[in-house]
Amino acid sequence: MATFKVELPNLPYEHNALEPVISSETLQVHHGKHHQTYVDKFNAALEAEGIETEDVLNLFEIVSKLSPAIRNHGGGYWNHKFYWESLRSPNEDNKPTGKIAELINESFGSYENFVEKFSASGAALFGSGWTWLGQKEDGSLIIHNTPNQDNTYMDIVEEKYNPLLTMDVWEHAYYIDYQNKRPVHIQEFFKIINWDKVNDRLN
Ligand SMILES: [Fe+2]
Repeated sequence: MATFKVELPNLPYEHNALEPVISSETLQVHHGKHHQTYVDKFNAALEAEGIETEDVLNLFEIVSKLSPAIRNHGGGYWNHKFYWESLRSPNEDNKPTGKIAELINESFGSYENFVEKFSASGAALFGSGWTWLGQKEDGSLIIHNTPNQDNTYMDIVEEKYNPLLTMDVWEHAYYIDYQNKRPVHIQEFFKIINWDKVNDRLN
């Protein structure tokens, strides 16, 4: 009988805090239904398989040896928590500041180039998944896609980096507000990136 369980984390803001980029309705469904379901199914899999751990990340490191339910629902639990914490209320002039602004210039040449590359990566992801900004061991930044609910901490994912920011490009993240227009959602997404949080996540 596994005793390790996770809980649905509270959103770090009100449901309407990201409007008009992400509607209150989307957040209610995305957090209250989708994220809750990942939490419930992850807990059910931990229980059914008798898995104990002190940290979800420890499970990701051996995820290839665990069931698809742990990989998919554990990833869904963790990735969404990280996603909510990556966002804040919209600002038309939302731009990176401090150290992350310097690193973006060093790695991509300019903020505009970063926006172009990150957008292209999110648009090119076939099906469902996540677009990440991460910091590699040498300090440089990387833009990387993972399919489904995978993330860099999983042993099945080759690319390794410290995740700084993520964008959910599953249809459930934007369909109510943008229907099939993922590129329009991505364009708006830059207004709600919490660059202070991204700076806090730097090594
Ligand atoms: Fe999602």
